[in-house]
Amino acid sequence: MIMRKILVTGGSGYIGSVLIRRLLEKGYGIRVLDIGFFGHESLHDVKDKIELVEGDIRLAGKDIFKGMSAVIHLAGFSNDPTAEYRPKENFSVNVDGTRHVVNFAKESGVEKFVFGSSCSVYYTTNPDNMEKNEDHFITPTVPYALSKHMAEDIVLDAGDASFIPVVFRKGTVYGLSPRMRYDLVVNALLKDAFTSKKMILHQGGRMWRPLLDIESAASAYIYAIEHDISGIFNLVDSNVLVSDLADRICAILKEIYNEDISIEKIDVGVARSYRVSGDKLRQHGFRPPREFRKAICEMWDDLLKRGDIHHEKYYNIRTFEKLFPNHSNN
Ligand SMILES: NC(=O)c1ccc[n+]([C@@H]2O[C@H](COP(=O)([O-])OP(=O)(O)OC[C@H]3O[C@@H](n4cnc5c(N)ncnc54)[C@H](O)[C@@H]3O)[C@@H](O)[C@H]2O)c1
Repeated sequence: MIMRKILVTGGSGYIGSVLIRRLLEKGYGIRVLDIGFFGHESLHDVKDKIELVEGDIRLAGKDIFKGMSAVIHLAGFSNDPTAEYRPKENFSVNVDGTRHVVNFAKESGVEKFVFGSSCSVYYTTNPDNMEKNEDHFITPTVPYALSKHMAEDIVLDAGDASFIPVVFRKGTVYGLSPRMRYDLVVNALLKDAFTSKKMILHQGGRMWRPLLDIESAASAYIYAIEHDISGIFNLVDSNVLVSDLADRICAILKEIYNEDISIEKIDVGVARSYRVSGDKLRQHGFRPPREFRKAICEMWDDLLKRGDIHHEKYYNIRTFEKLFPNHSNN
């Protein structure tokens, strides 16, 4: 089955703006629907090759879905701090917004619907560090993870012979994007190494995290629209202890750039720790497209050129605090 026209919601965001370039390289026609919380600069150099619709997914008309073979649904609140800052909006966008998009996509004859969920659904306040697979019973409690889990059910329940749903539970993503985020663990550690030659590890870095290269994420979305897969898949390249992650980053920076970065372990912060298996998608033949060190070097080379790394646009919660300064439990 050859698919040509793809709607990417949230396409101006961190993952979407990398994915769109990879889709364009493969000859897909692209329509983006994005409210533009972080602007649309990330798509500036490809704006003549795509159709960009600025708007809220909850208000999207049915026309936006017409003629699309697949929808890749990335729009929404995308981390814990923003979801906790505006909890009602988080559920409205991530749950009701997803229902709206799913319904119109299905009614419009979209064949494949790929949803960007998160490994955060596995996180509990009582972590056991057991590696979780897709069959693991989950009971998310915090607003972001709960909204993602509720949205997963909406997407999966809509599936039938002509509407194929795929849910990707992504690990924490790292790597360079035209819409950069420095509020994700690898990117944040690298940014700290760059600005202060030091990485500070909360809870002594004793937390496990499932990680995912942004290029793996983009490849997996394309894999999903080009292959006969459906259902839930964890999208994880590797699980690492944050202290080991910091050691790996230090070793790469020493070897390639002769940088001496120190590591300080402190016992404050929240120990969000979980391990997630990416075996199911790998058993389908999916492979990450590049090595960890390539992603690190690409980001470091970019940091050497980038002058504004403290700008709020790189930190979702700081952007939200600026956009919605008078939040009152909304
Ligand atoms: N980045 C990660 O590590 C990670 C990990 C797991 C899951 N995810 C999920 O993947 C998706 C993309 O993540 P990202 O890192 O690119 O996030 P991002 O915050 O950079 O991008 C999200 C995009 O969605 C748009 N958006 C938000 N609400 C909208 C609305 N109501 N209508 C239309 N557009 C809206 C924003 O403007 C933004 O461009 C999110 O759903 C996120 O929850 C991300």
